[in-house]
Amino acid sequence: MRVFQKTSELASYINKLKREGKSVGFVPTMGYLHEGHLSLVRCAKRENDTVVVSIFVNPTQFGKGEDFDRYPRDLDRDLKLLQKEGVEIVFVPQVGDMYPEGFSTFVEETKLSRKWEGEFRPGHFKGVCTVVLKLFNIVKPDRAYFGEKDFQQLKVIQKMVKDLNLDVEIVGCPIVREEDGLAMSSRNVYLSKEEREQATAIYQSFQLAQKLVKEGLKNPRELEKRIVNFLKKFPLIKEIDYVAIVDEDTLEPVKEIKGKERILVAVRLPSARLIDNWKLEI
Ligand code: PAF
Repeated sequence: MRVFQKTSELASYINKLKREGKSVGFVPTMGYLHEGHLSLVRCAKRENDTVVVSIFVNPTQFGKGEDFDRYPRDLDRDLKLLQKEGVEIVFVPQVGDMYPEGFSTFVEETKLSRKWEGEFRPGHFKGVCTVVLKLFNIVKPDRAYFGEKDFQQLKVIQKMVKDLNLDVEIVGCPIVREEDGLAMSSRNVYLSKEEREQATAIYQSFQLAQKLVKEGLKNPRELEKRIVNFLKKFPLIKEIDYVAIVDEDTLEPVKEIKGKERILVAVRLPSARLIDNWKLEI
């Protein structure tokens, strides 16, 4: 496994692989890897000759007062996990190399990114799009892999790729959950024991919603209300930023549940803000 810090060294290594006709699969991450990330790596390995994983806690996608400084980091552990998966290339850039003094160009998707996370984390997707486009330009992947856990992020990146004619296939991969249903996330490490227990309420609310839909509930506003009421029973869920039944493509709230919708949820516990989503089946 080769670990690159310098953009120019990675770029020339990738150019060599490309000249040899090798396809490149790319998994961008912020590190502190878990099974969710590793599932993306495995998928990338199956579909490409070479896999590149980047580890970079991207400062531009964190707002003021958010958790950039305390975001969990453990490079040694991450590298061991990637080695075990048989990853060929890891890219670990420095903040100063990605954003040198005088950096002044940003990329912004202006429709899908406005709602939901965009409302509660202004500037977040601008930071995500900018870093992802930069990483694409450095890694030149044939395919790039993103988890459905950050469903809005996946959609925003797909839109950026389409709008800017980027020559990369975006592959969305299913959410990986803990045994009790909590979606895997590096931020779960922030949760106290009690918070961790109550965090499963999100998954339980999805199960309740799915059951109600199977029983014939078609009104999305009613379903949102039922989910909110369920979540409110858990005292450590201090705030519900949003619960929305949206169209998978437009991310707009739907008028009727027809069987191609996602439930998007964001809640705050004392130590962490969690997001999750669920694809409804009819
Ligand atoms: O999903 C993430 O971990 C990040 O938003 C990403 C895509 C690596 C960009 O920093």
